[in-house]
Amino acid sequence: MRRWMLLAGAAAAVAVSVTVLWPREQAPVLEPERAALLAEAGATIPRNRPSGKVHEVELVAAPGTVQLLDGRPLDVWAYNGQVPGPTIRARAGDKLRVRLRNELPQPTTIHWHGLRLPNGMDGVPGVTQPPIASGASFTYEFVLPDAGTFWFHPHVRGSEQVERGLHGVLIVEPRDDKPRERELVWLLDDWRLAEDGQIDPEFVTRHDLAHDGRWGQLSTVNGKVRPTVDVRAGEAVLVRLLNAANGRIFAPDLSALDANVVAFDGVPTSRPLPATKLELAPGNRADVLLRVPADATGTIDVVDRFTRRPFVLATLRVDGKVESAPLAAREFREVPAWTNASALEPDHVFELNATRGGRAGIEWQINGKAMVHDDGHAKHDPPTKLQLGRPTKLRFVNASARLHPMHLHGQFFKVIARNGQPVDEGHWRDTVLLRGRDSVDVMVVPEDEGTWALHCHILEHHDSGMMTLLKVERAS
Ligand code: C2O
Ligand code: CU
Repeated sequence: MRRWMLLAGAAAAVAVSVTVLWPREQAPVLEPERAALLAEAGATIPRNRPSGKVHEVELVAAPGTVQLLDGRPLDVWAYNGQVPGPTIRARAGDKLRVRLRNELPQPTTIHWHGLRLPNGMDGVPGVTQPPIASGASFTYEFVLPDAGTFWFHPHVRGSEQVERGLHGVLIVEPRDDKPRERELVWLLDDWRLAEDGQIDPEFVTRHDLAHDGRWGQLSTVNGKVRPTVDVRAGEAVLVRLLNAANGRIFAPDLSALDANVVAFDGVPTSRPLPATKLELAPGNRADVLLRVPADATGTIDVVDRFTRRPFVLATLRVDGKVESAPLAAREFREVPAWTNASALEPDHVFELNATRGGRAGIEWQINGKAMVHDDGHAKHDPPTKLQLGRPTKLRFVNASARLHPMHLHGQFFKVIARNGQPVDEGHWRDTVLLRGRDSVDVMVVPEDEGTWALHCHILEHHDSGMMTLLKVERAS
């Protein structure tokens, strides 16, 4: 079993209640080198036991109007009339039951990004469920095994539905009631507006496909352009950052603050990781614990530095002062270094590239195949098979010059090499960004049976075909 540690210098290991996935007699049979990798990973990533409690939510996806951006009416598609959608807060171990009614002019589904859940609840049309037709409803129901920052969004025509406003944050609170720092949730997004100030209705253009998807001219935090957020000198704040944009990468510069990443993609890091060079590709989350300097006054801008044209994402206004209290105890998760895995041949290689074809003239592919699934009638080749419980090495090879944040559903993976060089990021992920011509190796221990999507999270690339399927099965 894994060990969890407390911050604040405590050397003591704490045991947490976890369910062990494989009773000893059902553990996968592995060659010695794989068994060693599995042992290094601690057999399995612990999950909270079901609490028996149910958290119920009603969501209606429908066209609506909000006062966002410059405050003028903006036509959107929204969950419960809000953009971003309502933040769902539930507790690890609880069952989440979400009844979704589709009042959109298109079919839809909800994908619970980053969650480990039963395959049938994953929201991939034509793969894990039929699309939910206009006027129809569907109930998602599953236990939340992991505390952390997650999000939800449609998996049908994401390039249009997510862009029009369908996305929301899911925060899974830890099981205990320990006091923690004040929290901020920052959902980062960008908007491409037409001349009339409304969302540009041209989706998946040839330009988007020839580049890194749809990048808007206006970036927002929780739907607001450059919001001002009050903080106090000396205060510690946990900021849950999430990138919900279709294509834009965000690189918020937090260097004026003492800022550490304490969770990435919903999983605690192995230790506080300095938040310098923080990069969030579409889909990524980072929980950043920051301390406002005790002598801070006035305002502190949080600037995005991903592109050559930096811009202010949000402004912190220092209003008052607090006695700097010690940080709350928090859980960190041991992450295997898996240095021995660099010598292994990859089990599967996924080559990323584009070709001429498709509706907009360019089609993004994985290993020479495009999988277009937006009408819910996915045509695809047999999925790549992975064995349950077997540490598996996947290699992504970007044969193109564009960016591709590769996202795997239903499991966490760890980056072990970039361009042939071993790396230890100190955290798990569910989405990893490849730059042009990059090659990235990841290790995953598949723990849930079913057919899971693997795709680029630039939604225009995705919707033009950049997706494939992995089928996790028990060895027979
Ligand atoms: Cu957030 Cu399949 O994606
Ligand atoms: Cu891509």
